[in-house]
Amino acid sequence: MTPALKNDLFLRACRGEKTERPPVWIMRQAGRYMPEYQEIRKKTSFLGLCKTPDLAAQATMLPVDMLGVDAAILFSDILIPVEAMGMELEFSEHKGPSFPRPVQSRMDVDRLLVPEPVAHTGFVAEAIREINRRLSGRLPLIGFAGAPFTLATYMVEGEISKDFSRVKQMMFSDPETLHTLLDRITETVIRYLEMQIEAGIHAYQIFDTWAGSLSPVHYRSFALPYVRRIVDSLQRHGIPSILYVNGSCALLEDMVTAGTNVVSVDWRMSLANVRERVPASVSIQGNLDPVSLLGTPAILREETRRILEDMKGRPGYVFNLGHGILPSTPVSMAKYLVSLVQKGLDAPVPSKAQAV
Ligand code: CP3
Repeated sequence: MTPALKNDLFLRACRGEKTERPPVWIMRQAGRYMPEYQEIRKKTSFLGLCKTPDLAAQATMLPVDMLGVDAAILFSDILIPVEAMGMELEFSEHKGPSFPRPVQSRMDVDRLLVPEPVAHTGFVAEAIREINRRLSGRLPLIGFAGAPFTLATYMVEGEISKDFSRVKQMMFSDPETLHTLLDRITETVIRYLEMQIEAGIHAYQIFDTWAGSLSPVHYRSFALPYVRRIVDSLQRHGIPSILYVNGSCALLEDMVTAGTNVVSVDWRMSLANVRERVPASVSIQGNLDPVSLLGTPAILREETRRILEDMKGRPGYVFNLGHGILPSTPVSMAKYLVSLVQKGLDAPVPSKAQAV
């Protein structure tokens, strides 16, 4: 058992307990919008950063120390275990992640490994232990993994895609191969998250970022069952789980049946509506539009007020964005957002943000 945490608001909200105020953290809270992150990044490549526990721990701690968020999240990437499956992975400054030899056939799928997590990705476990040493019980640490469908989109498309035509073409022409691929990713993710749990994470988030590109019928066949299998397999560890889907408006009721403690939603639906559609036993996370951090402090305050109002009196709410924070976000606006949630709407407007 981990010793009691000094701030356990986040874990209590995940479990649906009443909290004095909603906890707040920000998806992609350690990232390029922070000059201090850019400094760490100068020392190595993005993958090098993910694979060096001391640097990954430094990056994880930046938003903890600078923004005062209520949870830390492991600094890593959803594609790390995919590389361990045997796929060459590249990150470029402009194109983001790419796989030079994407999965195109059944033969490509058969060549993929279900890696032994400590042997291939032990640096992640080491980073988790190092982060917990630095947190020394101040805050919970969130671990994460990509969901099988979202990981498959990158593996089949080979790069960031707008229409997901390759992975969907596989779905409509050779569903069996796609299911075999999803099955292998699922086994990998279960073992990978088990390693993170053993290393000391307090909760985990599954990113099914691109499952919102599927029709409900295909979501139920190619995304949901695999996430459910992960959640079921990890249930015995008893730590809270979060499922994030971007564009989940048409999938929300299905998404809830994955069995996570929390569903994390984007900004395309009001939380008043989400609240009606999600049973009281399931917590809700989201849903501020990340672009609102690029506007004026007064409008950010109004957007925050509306969200807090929509969720008033509903136990089990975690304040967050509807997707990752954008690289062009002023740090002062991220700080202001955290203080609006923690201190209330009268929180002082930081002078830098006033000038936006
Ligand atoms: O939340 C956090 O602070 C933890 C770190 C984290 C990163 N990626 C760091 C990162 C997490 C949780 C992720 C998840 C991730 N990675 C997702 C799911 C969430 C989402 O935003 O949709 C996806 C789809 C990826 C894949 C990925 N990694 C893309 C598409 C890109 C390029 C686009 C971009 O935003 O830069 C990355 C790179 C990446 N992952 C960076 C960071 C800090 C930037 C890398 C750099 O320093 O150049």
